[in-house]
Amino acid sequence: MTVHARQILDSRGRPTVEAEVTLANGGQARASSPSGASTGKAEAVELRDGRAEAEGLGVRDAVANVKGEIANAVCGLDALDQQAIDDTMLALDGTANLSRLGGNATLAVSLAVLRAGAAARGEPLWRRVSELAGAEPSMPLPMVNILSGGLHAGRGMDVQDFLAIPVGAGSYSEALDWICRVRAEAARCCAALGLPTLLADEGGLSPGFENAEQALDLMVDAIGRAGLRAGDDVAITLDIASSSLVDAEGNYPFSRQGRVYSSAEMIEMQARWVARYPIVSIEDGLGEDDWANWPEMTRRLPGIQLVGDDLFATQPGRIARAIDADICNAALIKVNQNGTVSGTLDSVRKAREGGYAIVVSARSGETEDDYLADLAVGCGGGQIKVGSVRTSDRLAKYNQLLRIEEAGLPWAGTSGLAPL
Ligand code: PGA
Ligand code: ZN
Repeated sequence: MTVHARQILDSRGRPTVEAEVTLANGGQARASSPSGASTGKAEAVELRDGRAEAEGLGVRDAVANVKGEIANAVCGLDALDQQAIDDTMLALDGTANLSRLGGNATLAVSLAVLRAGAAARGEPLWRRVSELAGAEPSMPLPMVNILSGGLHAGRGMDVQDFLAIPVGAGSYSEALDWICRVRAEAARCCAALGLPTLLADEGGLSPGFENAEQALDLMVDAIGRAGLRAGDDVAITLDIASSSLVDAEGNYPFSRQGRVYSSAEMIEMQARWVARYPIVSIEDGLGEDDWANWPEMTRRLPGIQLVGDDLFATQPGRIARAIDADICNAALIKVNQNGTVSGTLDSVRKAREGGYAIVVSARSGETEDDYLADLAVGCGGGQIKVGSVRTSDRLAKYNQLLRIEEAGLPWAGTSGLAPL
């Protein structure tokens, strides 16, 4: 096996790492690392050059690490032994957060190896994932970004994501069709209000509402105008991305509103939204360090899926801590937060053992790579969060799911939505 790498660009036009694995039989596979904007502190480190190129964001050093140290260390290993290859890269790095070689370097290699392994066995990528994960493959329920704020939209709104989740759909393709209708109606609603319809980083709209209620009203309106029932057919999910709001005192300034909320006020505000709108899931409703208030958040919002993103950072140890403390009931799964495929699947297993739901997620910076669709299918019984149904970095995943659907796999629907 030989390993090559290059610097390519992601959906924000920023450099990222693409790795290419060539097997002895000539088979080739490549994969690239995504990149977040609202990142958690516990994530694997993304190695950036910090030199003049691309405003310091170049990844030439990470690419050199793949072509040099990593290629040397893994070239003698079997591409089908994913665990050994991932363990070798972790040991070679030697840090707890992959800060020496770069999580962007290790992940690109890990994903390319995963693909090469599937190709070597002549099986689809989702089947390879399901074998490694020990899971029954199924078509995931998508939660789809409709309105964006936070760091994905120049802080045009305080809450980062307002998403639509087609809880009443009978299949993945029906779910996608419903979402496209809701997305189109949401754009018409914005236009009718004289608000912008330009795209945010994940292809969502960013109407720049001052408060969340205005955005939630528009969501309900758009679902209705699409000829669907808000709540029964299409419900709402939120990603507050609270870790990107929190200030030095541990409070949460909502700058568009000109208000600062305490943790207790954050919980009450979200409880009010849940009482008034068909919201079924909230992600990062409190910050990644607010462990003291997460138990109250979890008690105060029974029956709602509470997802940890920055809070868990796809680290099995943080998920285990949450399970012990009875905090949240679902884990967001982002491969580059972890840095390897094996570590990511460990996080999936840890969540499942604790009875937590999983939401396999893209980053706000993505490439045309579609591995995420296969990962979500292979992990089985879950949900997928890719962004909006706009721009090819997002559609690469949605379209790959349409291809995979032809295999006749069961539809997870709401079976994987917490509380399970
Ligand atoms: P990120 O956003 O990729 O910018 O971290 C996605 C999310 O917060 O879920
Ligand atoms: Zn998030």
